[in-house]
Amino acid sequence: MTIRPDTTGKLPLTDLGELKRRGEKIVMVTAYDYPSGRLADLAGIDMVLVGDSAAQVVLGHDSTVPVTLEEMIVLARAAARGAARPLVVADLPFGSYQVSDEEAVRASVRFVKEAGVDAVKVEGAGPTLSRVRAIVGAGVPVMGHIGLTPQSATMLGGYRAQGRTARKAQGLLADALALEQAGCFAMVLECIPGEVSERITEALTAPTIGIGAGDGVDGQVLVFHDLLGLYEGRSPRFVKRYAELGDAARDALERYAAEVRSGAFPGPEHAYAMPAEELTLFQAEAANAVRPR
Ligand code: KIV
Repeated sequence: MTIRPDTTGKLPLTDLGELKRRGEKIVMVTAYDYPSGRLADLAGIDMVLVGDSAAQVVLGHDSTVPVTLEEMIVLARAAARGAARPLVVADLPFGSYQVSDEEAVRASVRFVKEAGVDAVKVEGAGPTLSRVRAIVGAGVPVMGHIGLTPQSATMLGGYRAQGRTARKAQGLLADALALEQAGCFAMVLECIPGEVSERITEALTAPTIGIGAGDGVDGQVLVFHDLLGLYEGRSPRFVKRYAELGDAARDALERYAAEVRSGAFPGPEHAYAMPAEELTLFQAEAANAVRPR
């Protein structure tokens, strides 16, 4: 029997662990506005991530670093309105939690109060562990994120797979255990070898959600624009494109432009009519109208 709620109920955060125990895969996708949140909800997605990938796919930056807390709150509020049933997690953007536990708690509370999200996500371990303890202590659930952590991609030598030596893989396992110990309810594993993510998944009680981490994890997440073919440019190897909506949208826009220019749009079916006698009256009055000087 599935523990997933019907179309109106919200998946309780505490049931994610039960999905892991049962071996039922958890499905997560990013969303950044009302329509994408709503589509995720209609498609029966379990969790929505208002990712700081918004910086790239929505705001046009070339990394996740520039997006601000204010921008993320606006996007998260819209996505949460659309995604009534999935659990909604928002990324704490770069700069909103690095300085102190207090700032991390303040930013997290704003996400919950102003955007209506269920949880926040932070990247890395080390100093992030104290942030996780502080945010969870304030009553906000926290998701961890290890492996390729885009906010610190420069320190990692670019956007590349992590944990590819025994020592680095051991470090990731230690980080995952420490994040769970600090209170994370779930963890994103990004761009790490499948054998490493499988070992981490076995070691944790908390569910792992992979992106470029193989199939031995408890669930998967993809970026909305990547999986729907809405983002131009080369996709990373872990992306599977399930549609080419970017091409479909461009084609529709080109046909619209051509029809406006040729006069084929709008047609009579797109226009409003007025009663014949009102039209006669209007035309007579309009003919006598004096142009103001
Ligand atoms: O911001 C994001 O979209 C993410 C996913 C890649 C996990 O963090």
